[in-house]
Amino acid sequence: MIADMPRGGPDASCLDRLLQTNRQEYLDRDDIGDDVKRGIVAALDRVGTMFREHDRNAELVLREVADIVDPKILELGAGHGALSRTVLEQHPTAHVTVSDVNSESVAAMAASDLGDHPRASVRTIDATAIDAADGEFDLAVFALSFHHLNPTQAAQALAEGTRVAKAMLVIDLPRMPSPLHIAKLAIMAPLVWWPFAHDGLISSLRSYSPSALRALGSHADLDVDVSTNPFDRQVLVARRRT
Ligand SMILES: C[S@@+](CC[C@H](N)C(=O)[O-])C[C@H]1O[C@@H](n2cnc3c(N)ncnc32)[C@H](O)[C@@H]1O
Repeated sequence: MIADMPRGGPDASCLDRLLQTNRQEYLDRDDIGDDVKRGIVAALDRVGTMFREHDRNAELVLREVADIVDPKILELGAGHGALSRTVLEQHPTAHVTVSDVNSESVAAMAASDLGDHPRASVRTIDATAIDAADGEFDLAVFALSFHHLNPTQAAQALAEGTRVAKAMLVIDLPRMPSPLHIAKLAIMAPLVWWPFAHDGLISSLRSYSPSALRALGSHADLDVDVSTNPFDRQVLVARRRT
């Protein structure tokens, strides 16, 4: 059953199975104030800018749509919208639908430059139940968000992303080999008082391994291509089987 699949995948070791949690990040919890969530999303934006994550993620998006003249792109789980903003700056004719399930984040993005951009629309969308027609987009992209979903939801998001778009690009944290993972958790643990580090630590425990990503794609009956590096992002491109 996909619902019971460990985050490390069907072949996860006993140690890897211990290094996961069902505990939710503050960003996903209804009992956490919007100010705390806003602080985490702002920190994600700052850290992404500092380490050029938004630029590197935009490069991956632009590579996927390189052969399409006026690509229609759907960003899911956009949070602060920096990835879509970068794509719009770097591609003169791309149209981007910038979305998140969190209505507070959507309101903040709509109030920003994205709200007035002639090639952007800002919407509330749940990645597991996308309110869009089949094939409406050329590409759906979900960056640093896939680990928020449990395996059933993650397979559903892949099915939905590839229903509404020709391809779905998932960019997410890597799942490190267990000894390195333990070292990373030990470094992060003293910082859990900081909401950004709290969510980072849970993200690490919830990240999917490459074999888990392949199992999720196979469960959704999709062709998936996974590239990974334990010290960098991992990237999945999913397409409907032809
Ligand atoms: C860690 S943030 C990533 C934000 C941004 N994409 C980035 O790269 O920094 C995860 C985002 O996923 C969103 N999210 C969680 N579950 C979601 C779902 N089911 N559908 C769409 N977005 C979701 C959260 O609201 C949050 O904005």
